[in-house]
Amino acid sequence: MDICSIRKDFPILNRTVNGKKLVYLDNAATTQMPSQVLYAYTQHYSLDNANVHRGIHTLSEISTAKLEDARAAAARFIGAPSPECIVFTSGTTDSVNTVVRAWAENMARGSFSIVATAMEHHSNYLPWLDLCTRRGGNFVEIPLSQDGRLDTVALGKALTPETILFAVTYVSNVTGAVNDIKGLIDLAHSRGVPVLVDAAQAAREFPIDVSELGADFLCLSAHKMLGPSGVGLLYVAKRHFEELVPCRLGGGMISDIRNGLPVYEQMPHFLEAGTPNIGGIVAFHEAIRYIESVSRGYIEERETMLTSRLREMLSQLKDVRILGLSDTGGSCVSVVSGRFHPYDAALLLDKQGVAVRSGTHCAIPCHRALGVTGSLRFSPAFYNTEDELEAAVTAFDRALSILDRAAGGKP
Ligand code: ALA
Repeated sequence: MDICSIRKDFPILNRTVNGKKLVYLDNAATTQMPSQVLYAYTQHYSLDNANVHRGIHTLSEISTAKLEDARAAAARFIGAPSPECIVFTSGTTDSVNTVVRAWAENMARGSFSIVATAMEHHSNYLPWLDLCTRRGGNFVEIPLSQDGRLDTVALGKALTPETILFAVTYVSNVTGAVNDIKGLIDLAHSRGVPVLVDAAQAAREFPIDVSELGADFLCLSAHKMLGPSGVGLLYVAKRHFEELVPCRLGGGMISDIRNGLPVYEQMPHFLEAGTPNIGGIVAFHEAIRYIESVSRGYIEERETMLTSRLREMLSQLKDVRILGLSDTGGSCVSVVSGRFHPYDAALLLDKQGVAVRSGTHCAIPCHRALGVTGSLRFSPAFYNTEDELEAAVTAFDRALSILDRAAGGKP
């Protein structure tokens, strides 16, 4: 694959920010969309737009077929046995909340616990904490080692007969640590505990096969894998279909009302009340096609190379600590130092055209576990170049010198 031709597919990469060439290194927050995805979105609304599963006219049939093709493609993309296991949502947050309302509330009877980890993004943490608070359950947070690894001994102890779910991320959005997700699922299953996998950070970079993993639920967002925001999916293993209850009521999810009671549609429709984000789903399908055409192997290889190059460069800066293991696998590197506050550094980087994320990255438990209150995160995607990384690290070094001078310290 030729990186120059890949970059031509992403028009935004050519823009300037604050008079400087954009260096976009905030891909863990959201990725950019190639022209093919933008085109699929506008073509849909220019030519084919109609509601889905609600009409027999031509445009409605076309739109419905496109939505169901996207579902089939998403199922293949994550190794789901059939499209009915795929529920379209507005993103990972919505997917996790759907599992809370449609499944966990139904399973949380008597005394129960939910096991999550200190590595979770708030979207796979707060809904479980809230469920336990509302329903008197025990919320168990698995701690991390100082280098950001999951404490599997603590996990082994936390999984008890009362545990109804283990909620865990595949890849940390702070340290880039990649969990041995198959091993974690096998451990939980050996205790009879179903597992929900947050694959938001992993989906672009790593091949995912829910059947091989044995995942019970898996959540991801299109906007972290070259698609639009406002679209995501929830995978539900067939063995849990009978345990699901409807959680949002409205159009498109019942087939009849008999004796004053709704007769629900089958999966996945009964979890998809209301008109979905049709154009967004069509664009998501195009994003999947794009990833497959570039190939996940290429993306993984290139992002691994860029991230380790970035680590190497950042580790040479004075008094700058990289959070987590020295070699992780996920495409992000978060740094802290007494020399800068993450917001100040991010603003000074932005002035130089470099986009990075600052703060807690919606992962306060993870920062707390690592003994810090926030960090500055650089997250490359395969379309970034080594020159961009060098420009970003040079700009960061310059920002540190400015902050050193402002603090009256030595550069
Ligand atoms: N989850 C996103 C991030 O890590 C928003 O920045």
